[in-house]
Order: sequence, then structure tokens, then C-alpha cells
Amino acid sequence: MVVLGIETSCDETAAALVDDQRRILAHVVFSQDHASFGGVVPDIAARAHLQKLAPLVQAVLEKAPEAAAQLSAVAVTTGPGLIGSLWVGVSFAKALAWSLSCPLVQVNHLEGHALTVRLTHDVAFPYLALIASGGHCELALVRGVGDCLTLGQSLDDAAGEAFDKVARLLGFPYPGAKALEACAQAGDPQRFAFPRPLKGQPGCDFSFAGLKTAARTLLTQLPDLSETLRADFCASFQQAVAEVVLDRFQHAFESVRDQHPTACVLTGGVAANQRIRTELEAFAASCDLPFVAPPMELCTDNGAMIAWAGLERYRNNSYSTRNVFAFAPRPRWELQELSCA
Ligand code: KG4
Ligand code: ZN
Repeated sequence: MVVLGIETSCDETAAALVDDQRRILAHVVFSQDHASFGGVVPDIAARAHLQKLAPLVQAVLEKAPEAAAQLSAVAVTTGPGLIGSLWVGVSFAKALAWSLSCPLVQVNHLEGHALTVRLTHDVAFPYLALIASGGHCELALVRGVGDCLTLGQSLDDAAGEAFDKVARLLGFPYPGAKALEACAQAGDPQRFAFPRPLKGQPGCDFSFAGLKTAARTLLTQLPDLSETLRADFCASFQQAVAEVVLDRFQHAFESVRDQHPTACVLTGGVAANQRIRTELEAFAASCDLPFVAPPMELCTDNGAMIAWAGLERYRNNSYSTRNVFAFAPRPRWELQELSCA
């Protein structure tokens, strides 16, 4: 079984071929550059997908011609994401599937992130997953293919978004989360008392907007940041985010403990953050569970995660065969509504 996955939900144009032996046969990601705008500009993203997608898919198919010749299905990110960007991927995938007389599988981007660990590791259902990136922050119990129980999500900004926005306040180019973490390395995480939104509160939701406002307010009081203060500022902010993430993760685990999750999973771009990883790793160890994160290139948006989720759905027969060339992208598509795919 070989599935081609196509991802265009935000600012990565990506495609990959994956087989049922859990091999990534070909895998190409083009990351758009929106740095000069300070964030992703939806129209520019859609145009870039339009220019890049066809040659990128062609390159993927040429990298593994034998597998490409026996495609079982085409899988495409159908939502959630930027509507214009989604349209590009969905329209292309429909045309390709039609021309090859191949089944077309609609994939929820978040389910793609959530299922990636089953491509890269031996992880059995159910498992507890935190999907944290610039666009998402979601805690879910992944119970099966097409069966995720959302335990919590951000009420405002995503975790990565908070990192990127605070990094921007400090003058780091977009997306600045990585630079913020690098700067934090030399800093004192106790130097500034940032709030810990929702920490200790019931439930598993997140809120990062107040943390961002606190960062902005503090910066106005510190007009000339020395290198040391800047590092302390980054370390203190990062510590606040890491503590909140850990607290919410612990709450989520408590709420599903009786369902015996097999692993603690972290995915999405925020998995790059060593502070957050360390906290969650230690927590998983304290619960006697493995901590699993896919390799970084599969944590950030990519085509292999969509191909794999499509493959899991295709082999389970859990994909829609009705109106397959008439469906529209779903810019909002909650994990909770997966069964409608
Ligand atoms: O998953 P991804 O490629 O794209 C989406 O946002 O969907 O994640 C990229 C994002 C960055 O914009 C940033 O928000 C976050 O992941 N990120 C980080 C770090 N590196 C990337 N957040 C915290 N610490 C990092 N080192
Ligand atoms: Zn993503």
C-alpha cells in the first residue's frame, strides 16, 4: 500500500510518499518565507502553493518511481487551515486522484500531527498527545483512527504563536521562537515573574494572550534591555510557558488515567523547545510511560504525516467515498468531528 500525501494548510507546501511498511519513500517540504511581513499573509501563501505544489509533487513522484506507479490513494489536508491555501491542495489532489482513478482521502491536519508517532514509533492506541505549533495547541486522547477525544485547547493564541509574538516584540525576525529559545539559554528563568495563565485551574485548556500582554507591558518598563536582561526575559517567559504546558498536560493525564494511555506524545513545531520537552519527558517518566516525539522534520508541517494519516484511514476503510470530487476544504475542523471525514 502506497499513499501520496499533500499538505498546503498554512505556509509549508509539502508532499510525500509513504507505504504500509512505515517507510517514507519520498518527502519534500518547501517552507515559504513570510519573515518580511512579520507573519503569514494568507493570499501570498495561497499563491506560493499554486506555484510550488505541482513541481513539488512531480519531484516526489520522480524520487520513488516504482512506488508512484502503484499508488493506492491520494491523501490531502482538507482542514483546518487557511482557506485559500487549502483550496490549492484540495483542488490539485482532486484532479490528480481523478486522472489516476485513485481513491482520495480527506485528512484533518491535526489528526495528521497526532498519528505521526505511529509512523515513526511503535505506539498503540490510546495515547495522550499534545499538538503544539504556531497554529495549534491541543491536548487529545488519541483512541484510534478517526477517534480523538479533545481534552483541551487554547482559548486564544497557540503556544508557538505566543513564542513568535513575544520574539517579535524583542525584534527577532518571524518566526522568532527558535531565536527566543537560543537567547533564553544564557538567562535566569526566575528573574521576571510572568503570570502562569490557567495553571492549577480545572480542565486542560490553555491561554497565552495574558502572558503575551505581560511581556509587552514589562518591555515598556525596560526600554534598554542589556544582553543579560534580554536573556533573563526570554528564559523567564519560556519558563512560564513550560510550566503552564506541563500543568495542562498533567491535568489531561489525570482525566484519562483510567483509560490507560500507552504514551505521552508531543508534536508540532513547539516540540523543538528543549525546556518543554524536558518537562514533559520527566512527567512521562514519573508515570512510567514512554515520552515520544517524532523527529523534528516530522513534527513541523510535512507531507508524510498527511500520507500516513491517509494510509491509516484508507486501510481501515474509514474515509468518505461520497461526493469525493465535490467536497470543499474546511478551514475550521475540530479533532472532535473527525468521524465526518
Ligand atoms: O508545526 P509548524 O511547522 O507550523 C505551524 O505553525 O503549524 O511549527 C512552527 C512553529 C513556529 O512558528 C513556532 O511557533 C514554533 O513552531 N516553534 C517553537 C520553537 N521552534 C518552533 N516554539 C518554541 N520553541 C522553539 N524552539
Ligand atoms: Zn501543523
